[in-house]
Amino acid sequence: MAQIAVVPGSFDPVTLGHLDVIGRAARLFDEVHVLVVHNPDKQPAMFDAADRVRLIRDSFAETGIPDSVRVGEWTAGLLVDYCRQVGAGVLVKGVRSGDDVAYETPMAIMNRHLADVETVFLLPEASRAHVSSSLIRQVSSLGGDVTPYVPTAVAEALAARTGS
Ligand code: PNS
Repeated sequence: MAQIAVVPGSFDPVTLGHLDVIGRAARLFDEVHVLVVHNPDKQPAMFDAADRVRLIRDSFAETGIPDSVRVGEWTAGLLVDYCRQVGAGVLVKGVRSGDDVAYETPMAIMNRHLADVETVFLLPEASRAHVSSSLIRQVSSLGGDVTPYVPTAVAEALAARTGS
């Protein structure tokens, strides 16, 4: 049976670190769904969900991610409800540090208890380990150059927002 993996996140906006992890997931699993999840703890968002989905899709060709990777959004209910709906048995989370592992571990155990969904932690390339969406938003809004850390579509969208 095909192993379906879901890569969830806020992706506000997607970074080269996220795309590195998505590419690794695409090489490991038969089918990969990238899911833009509404995270009420992270309001207000910079980009709305539809823009985040578009920016992820628009970055695939540049980063060598196959078009077969699906991109969608999930605004209501548990993440594992989506997994059940599409028959996914695995969640993929990118972890940059021990802090990320500590943050993700209770959610991974909860998701296993809720729906028998396993979580796989993947390490991004070390050069991406300091990149986060929140840092990108901050540096960009203060006029810094974020082009080494984001795909072209995101760099253009940020420039349009900040006027730089
Ligand atoms: O990119 P982020 O903001 O670190 O992503 C966090 C996200 C959206 C993956 C996380 O908040 C999450 O897994 N939310 C799903 C909500 C859920 O199902 N919670 C209950 C079980 S942990």
